[in-house]
Amino acid sequence: MISQNTIDTVFETARVEEVIGDFVNLKRAGSNFKGLSPFSDERSPSFMVSPAKGIWKDFSTGKGGNSVKFLMEHSQFTYPEAIRYLARKYNIEIEETEQTDAEKAMTDVRESMYLVSEFAAKYFQDVLINSEEGKAIGLSYFKERGFTNETIKKFDLGYSPETWDALTKEALGKGYKLEFLESTGLTIAREDRPFDRFKGRVMFPIQSMSGRVLGFGGRILTNDKKAAKYLNSPESDIYHKSKVLYGIYHAKQSIAKQNNCYLVEGYTDVIQFSQAGIENVVASSGTALTPDQIRLINRLTRNITVLFDGDAAGLRASIRGIDLILEEGMNVRVCSFPDGEDPDSFARKNSHDELVSYLENNSKDFIQFKASILMNEAKNDPIKKADLIRDMVTSISKIPDRIQREVYIQECARIMDISEQVLVSTLAQLIQKDIAEANKKQKQEHKPFDVVRNQNPKNTGYSGGDPEDPRTGPPEGYYDPGDMGYPAEQAEKVDILYGFERKIIEILLLYGSVLEDFEDVFLKTDEEGNVKEVSEKRKYKVYEKVYLSLQEDEVELSNTLFQNIFNGLIDFYNQNETFSLDKYLMHLPPDFAQEVTNILMEDEKLVIHNWEGQNIFPKHKNVTIEQNVSDTIFSLRWFLVSKIIHDLKNSLISDPQDDNSELLSMVIDYSKLLNNFSRKLGRVVVPYH
Ligand code: CTP
Ligand code: MN
Repeated sequence: MISQNTIDTVFETARVEEVIGDFVNLKRAGSNFKGLSPFSDERSPSFMVSPAKGIWKDFSTGKGGNSVKFLMEHSQFTYPEAIRYLARKYNIEIEETEQTDAEKAMTDVRESMYLVSEFAAKYFQDVLINSEEGKAIGLSYFKERGFTNETIKKFDLGYSPETWDALTKEALGKGYKLEFLESTGLTIAREDRPFDRFKGRVMFPIQSMSGRVLGFGGRILTNDKKAAKYLNSPESDIYHKSKVLYGIYHAKQSIAKQNNCYLVEGYTDVIQFSQAGIENVVASSGTALTPDQIRLINRLTRNITVLFDGDAAGLRASIRGIDLILEEGMNVRVCSFPDGEDPDSFARKNSHDELVSYLENNSKDFIQFKASILMNEAKNDPIKKADLIRDMVTSISKIPDRIQREVYIQECARIMDISEQVLVSTLAQLIQKDIAEANKKQKQEHKPFDVVRNQNPKNTGYSGGDPEDPRTGPPEGYYDPGDMGYPAEQAEKVDILYGFERKIIEILLLYGSVLEDFEDVFLKTDEEGNVKEVSEKRKYKVYEKVYLSLQEDEVELSNTLFQNIFNGLIDFYNQNETFSLDKYLMHLPPDFAQEVTNILMEDEKLVIHNWEGQNIFPKHKNVTIEQNVSDTIFSLRWFLVSKIIHDLKNSLISDPQDDNSELLSMVIDYSKLLNNFSRKLGRVVVPYH
């Protein structure tokens, strides 16, 4: 486990604009930075980075968070991977902490497998470069293939000696356990004699997105037809073939920058391309492309160019891969190489510029590609031609975007010399079928009591609302707690509640530690023994007031994410005198961070729209914090208590046989409370913003 100390240092050191600047081209805009969203294909920048707040927000997809969250979203890092990446970037030494036994049991196995894999990679590398055998056999092989020392180092290439247990012995001697050598597949254990899987092969370590060694490919050096050319690590707890792309660690930055990813088949294709100066390249390692692999690329770019050998063998596999890529909503181009050439050999024979221009001139969209390779087969054969057209339309039907489908239909019609109308109706049939299937699936998954919640905070009316708009106006008289449960109305009401709850979080974030005078209402017995309701001004910190008020009714926020954020914020204020956004965001789980940044970035959104010259009205700021807080609390309490009454009534109805007296008295108590609020809310004009 990484120590909290290290994590704190990482957060204190990492500058959000520097971290993101490695992946997104950022331009200064006032005190912020803006750029094109790396998560969508946009033309005008809606991606914002606020160095002052240490956060970013992507308005095109709604994503947002701190540096760590960016790395997790953008590069698919896990939380610890993101911390390690940042530590490496800023030369921060990582301090590991002792783990509890339970934690140990959880992470030990995988971690041990990672460690032994890392050790093996270093060992193979060392043997390649420093041992006589390694130099004479492994290194000379790589040199023959044209790999430079720099390339060999970059890809951590290695050599596994021609001794049956060289690695196993070395690893055991260094204290690595046989158990993990076996589970990673580096060692194959026979009762008495454990031996090396990769004996006498040159080694290609396979790395994760964040650079950890997951497994190996080992190439044989002889021309033995009986032995497999490549041996690969078996599937294990750390190596899942279908979720890994060879070269992704070295390619990811370039893929994001170039906004395109070249997809090849083999290890050597990746390496040769990289050496030729084209770094945005990954390999599926000879297996059919999987949706998981495509999604790995999708995080970095929406454009894939599939490259394949001149021979027909890899061709069919590439065609199958294309539909999968289209289904993920990505753009796919295809480029084939001259007969007998693969990307490796072609890159070796040509200069960087020749390679670049070849790729530019020969990449085709998938329609042109399918037409060009299948047309020969289909020529003069109407049945085959019809099959080919159906094949193309099937591919087109996988594209989620309608406009894009249209464009391809037109192109297909032109190339295949057939009317667009026929294609459109075929397409419509295919899409109908897909929709029907999707619906069927959704029905099976539908839960009858799904809570309707509007995901789009704009519609809640709580970011610059209109006092005349019933959704943002006073809740009084608008909400009947006895009448909930019709889907449309419920959606509206949940929206209002969502808005108030969100507003509470915003208040806590912005003014939590501010000391204000609040009106306190309590019961007092006077000299004559009469109980009276009196109100008095008292000083509270905003967070205390919010907490105590909700506590009073024993209500919780209905939105669990908000409730969790709420709990976290109250804890934070209890432990810290003042609020520091940095410090708070630092320890926030990703989901929370996302929502919190959404709320905090509302201000920046106004700025963005102004850049675009749009007509946005600023928020009302001329209300005191006290008013703002009190009114929001009352409104929220009103809603939450209404909801409780509604739920209680429902349980009365559903169980008429039971003794309901307790429930009934609760309903009465809460109804009294509600009346109380209604009186107070009488003076509330609008929930302010
Ligand atoms: N492959 C494999 N096992 C094999 C053959 C191939 O796992 N027996 C995988 C490897 O990942 C290999 C890829 O499929 O990189 C592509 O195969 P191929 O084109 O035959 O290999 P190259 O990478 O071109 O290797 P080389 O140029 O060294 O022959
Ligand atoms: Mn090859």
